[in-house]
Amino acid sequence: MMGRISILTCLLLVTVTAVMAQTKKPAVAAGRLAKGQALYKQHCMSCHQENGSGVPRMNPPLIKTEYVLGDKNRLIGVLLKGLNEEVEINGDYYSNPMPSQAALKDEEIADILTYVRSSFGNKASAVAPADVKKVRATIQ
Ligand code: HEC
Repeated sequence: MMGRISILTCLLLVTVTAVMAQTKKPAVAAGRLAKGQALYKQHCMSCHQENGSGVPRMNPPLIKTEYVLGDKNRLIGVLLKGLNEEVEINGDYYSNPMPSQAALKDEEIADILTYVRSSFGNKASAVAPADVKKVRATIQ
């Protein structure tokens, strides 16, 4: 009788642990986010503002835009190549050129984009240095 109860308890514990492990979020390392935020302030904030709101008709917002939340490779490309085309976001048009940020290291770009994709109300997956490396190889 005792033996059966401990086996059941054991099974229950194993199940609970397994469920907990599954629901645990794959949190982005806090260190990477802090680095990304510091780099954002240094390299992006002057144009896109601290809260990602941008400046109407001059510098577009980074809040839930298709560029920020969409295809990672395109987003990485914007940083590596800069952007010089007419961009429409929420009915506003932007045509000032964005200078290339290619002088930043792969890891720095990954940290900035991971920060941007999980801040300002954005919820998108992290960007890895290897993702940046791959895109850089196609344009240089
Ligand atoms: C000198 C000002 C300036 C700086 C610095 C700058 N940007 Fe931009 N950014 C712009 C402008 C202007 C555009 C629109 C370009 C166009 O219309 O072709 C833009 C476009 C973008 C876009 C695509 C449009 C959107 O709003 O989703 C993203 C993403 C972006 N920038 C992210 C960044 C990040 C991240 C950094 C820092 C590494 C940065 N930018 C630095 C001015 C800047």
